[in-house]
Amino acid sequence: MRVHVIGDNLAKLATLRALLERQCSITSELIGDAEIRADALDAVVVAADLRSVDNITAIKRIGNRLNRIAKRIFILDQKLRLSEVQAYALGATAVLSNPVGRAGLMAKLIDKKLVDASPDRTPPDIQEAAAIGAACIASMFSSALHRKAVDLKTLKGSGRKITDSIAEAGLSHWLASVRQHHEGTYQHCLLVTGIAVDFGLSLGLSRTDLERLYLAAMLHDIGKAKIPLAILDKPGRLEPEERTLVETHPAAGYEALKGSEGVTPELLDAVLHHHEFLDGSGYPDALCSESIPDLVRILTISDIFAALIEHRNYKPTMPRPQAYQTIQGMNGKLEKPLVMAFKEVALTR
Ligand SMILES: [Fe+2]
Ligand SMILES: [Fe+2]
Repeated sequence: MRVHVIGDNLAKLATLRALLERQCSITSELIGDAEIRADALDAVVVAADLRSVDNITAIKRIGNRLNRIAKRIFILDQKLRLSEVQAYALGATAVLSNPVGRAGLMAKLIDKKLVDASPDRTPPDIQEAAAIGAACIASMFSSALHRKAVDLKTLKGSGRKITDSIAEAGLSHWLASVRQHHEGTYQHCLLVTGIAVDFGLSLGLSRTDLERLYLAAMLHDIGKAKIPLAILDKPGRLEPEERTLVETHPAAGYEALKGSEGVTPELLDAVLHHHEFLDGSGYPDALCSESIPDLVRILTISDIFAALIEHRNYKPTMPRPQAYQTIQGMNGKLEKPLVMAFKEVALTR
């Protein structure tokens, strides 16, 4: 495997070279001089402090070449939400937050991230659409954190690209690529978007309705920008107070979006109510069936399916038939005819 290492100081480059040299063929360079001239790379490791404007500018300068490499692992000096968001916005497909000096731990972590870096057969359009989508979602999270307006125009462009690539190459390629190359909340948002788009295509929705659906899907969990990563990424069951905090994300998303240009009331409604169930057992408003619009019902089914099949380090990936069975078993919560129509998306598309 060919791995290129970029770092913001020589000590980081030396440590990473020493860690990786046994398993991989390594090239490296300092971030300020980075050109990424090596060919046929399987992965790039970027070890940089993303609180530094100079580092961010240097990475942006080589963005095009960086984003042509399938696996892009960023190593941050500290576990900071803003740096993580920045890393994904710069094109990271995985982010580690540990001091490079902790050799044993880093070797384990990097090895884990590089194990599945072998070249895959995902169509390049799918990979590119996923990379642009992840960067877009990261930048939306950054806007939410900084209380800035969300750029809906860029999001629409990315959603259109995702729709075209899924219509062309199919949902399975999308799911495989996103699960292999992306992580955590970003992986989840990309999976929900792909599933919702494919569900919309299978239902024969108009272009306008599809656009409403992919915007809602890309933005539905934007409120999670306000939830600490330690809770979002916690393996296993949450404590009651942690669960209460997580359940604030639909309202937080609504608040983050409501002033942004082009954000429609139906988009706000979808973000606020994507965890409602027809039997009134959902949150935050315990809405009942007649108050939940079709767009939200489609989004909710896609959201649950994505959460079941997503890849997390601490749980095995649930096969699609088993995930569909779980959805079928949610009696009274989801619209039955929609769940039946979803079968084709869940199992065969
Ligand atoms: Fe959610
Ligand atoms: Fe979600």
